[in-house]
Amino acid sequence: MAHWLRNTLLILTACYFDCKGEEAVDQQSGHVTALEGGLVTLSCNYTTSSPSSNLFWYVQLPRDSPQYVLRRDRYSEGSNSDEFKKRFDSRLNFTSSSVPLMIQRLQLSDSAVYYCALRPTVTAGDSVTV
Ligand SMILES: *[C@@H]1O[C@H](CO)[C@@H](O)[C@H](O)[C@H]1NC(C)=O
Ligand SMILES: *[C@@H]1O[C@H](CO)[C@@H](O)[C@H](O)[C@H]1NC(C)=O
Repeated sequence: MAHWLRNTLLILTACYFDCKGEEAVDQQSGHVTALEGGLVTLSCNYTTSSPSSNLFWYVQLPRDSPQYVLRRDRYSEGSNSDEFKKRFDSRLNFTSSSVPLMIQRLQLSDSAVYYCALRPTVTAGDSVTV
């Protein structure tokens, strides 16, 4: 295998919930390959009727269950999981209804499946277990 190939990592994105309907997230699905040490931005557009939805990113490493990475909402800065503080960031853009995940200084161990998820906070009785 060529040297550069060994230094690329594979990132898969997937829709966490049903991607149709009123409350939905739309990720580019499939493979994203990036260079070790580089930067990658994973896109996620969402649709919601709630103005105060929480958006989440999760990562699922091979042979592991999904782990919480970060949460963003419109009215606060949100928070990151301790494990994902340094190199992971996201800015919710309310105008474009997007919450792209940026990963800096990529490491081979970042190869994983990344999920974007939405939790409307206003709609009672329509909560989603994450
Ligand atoms: C999100 O929306 C932007 C702007 O409308 C578009 O360019 C992009 O392809 C969309 N991404 C996904 C994953 O649908
Ligand atoms: C949010 O999205 C809008 C529309 O795509 C864009 O014009 C604006 O620059 C974005 N804001 C930020 C802070 O990225």
